[in-house]
Amino acid sequence: MALINENFLKLKAGYLFPEIARRVKAFVDGNPEAAKRLIRCGIGDVTEALPEAVRYAMHEAIDEMGDRKTFKGYGPEQGYDFLRNAIADHDFKAKGVNVDADEIFISDGSKCDTGNILDIFGRGNKIAITDPVYPVYVDTNVMIGNTGDADENGAYAGLTYLKCGPENGFVPAIPSERVDLVYLCYPNNPTGAVATRAQLEAWVQYALKNDTIILYDAAYEAFIRDPEIPHSIFEIPGARDCAIEFRSFSKNGGFTGMRCAFVVIPKGLMGKTADGTKQAIHPLWSRRHSTKFNGASYIIQKGAEALYTDEGKSQVKALIEHYMGNAALLVQACKDAGLAVYGGVNAPYVWVGCPAGVTSWQMFDKMLNEANVVITPGSGFGSAGEGYFRISAFNSRANVEEVCTRIKALK
Ligand code: MLT
Repeated sequence: MALINENFLKLKAGYLFPEIARRVKAFVDGNPEAAKRLIRCGIGDVTEALPEAVRYAMHEAIDEMGDRKTFKGYGPEQGYDFLRNAIADHDFKAKGVNVDADEIFISDGSKCDTGNILDIFGRGNKIAITDPVYPVYVDTNVMIGNTGDADENGAYAGLTYLKCGPENGFVPAIPSERVDLVYLCYPNNPTGAVATRAQLEAWVQYALKNDTIILYDAAYEAFIRDPEIPHSIFEIPGARDCAIEFRSFSKNGGFTGMRCAFVVIPKGLMGKTADGTKQAIHPLWSRRHSTKFNGASYIIQKGAEALYTDEGKSQVKALIEHYMGNAALLVQACKDAGLAVYGGVNAPYVWVGCPAGVTSWQMFDKMLNEANVVITPGSGFGSAGEGYFRISAFNSRANVEEVCTRIKALK
């Protein structure tokens, strides 16, 4: 009989969102009438139609595929140059940020990228994550064997947890000990917090001093409205020597069902072998990508490229305005209901304190049963998320207005 990867047996319950889906299904099956009123604000999944510029570009790409003269088979694993160049020019160079097209690796999603990146790092690294945190960072470390078992709070032995709460604006204090890898996500999923330039500068200084690599997840950068808040870790001097950045078209372009994202790895970023020899990270990821991935679909990459046209940019702006308008309504409704509210200003997530004495999962049940609204329990993002819940602003305006009414009516 084949041996299994026993690390999987250490994982707690299901992945958060399948677990929510399971509970929601049980509710729907048991309450068919109430289920008709159900509004889902749990998983952060976009709801509005793809930008027209994207659809148009994809139609053209399909026609190219329908003609043997322009048909495309396998594409370059790292992504087509037209998309890598568009990203480098519009997301970085136009903003004065030094990232070259060949430092950009196109993929089919940031969830995969943030998990797969562990392939190129050795075992025995000291790894820090924030708490609360996007669960993928934790679970992929468990799967690959970077942790011990979980304790009764769900904290895994071997990981360094950086507590985030209102007292630090949900941006962790610089740790007193050194770590090899640290995951930072800003704008933050789940708390909707943003990191200021000064906070990111402090992290980059820490990383440079300690030979730490920052795994910077900027999947929600398009939602930043405050002009002072950095969109990329590479806006911070020194970050090219200590950071990898993950970006996604899921939430800005409405690509959750299309699948397209990218990783930025500066060519000078170094790790080391066990004997201390320095080794560039970029060729390792390039090799990994070429071996385990055959490139994102040409049609999808053509769609993503269209996000950088003038029409695409203005259609993305309209989408962001729509979702952030939702966020503002949700923030206000929670405030009106007397709840403590965070996020929702530069991020599409609203992070809400549960009423006194109510746990996150109790709040989940209350919202499901009394308001027929699906939210995400904060404890699903880590023990420091206990006592909070997350509302996703990805929805229609009508649904959000209805959710606001129901929140205010909650007993
Ligand atoms: C979330 O709800 O946290 C996100 O949709 C998860 C993801 O982007 O994978």
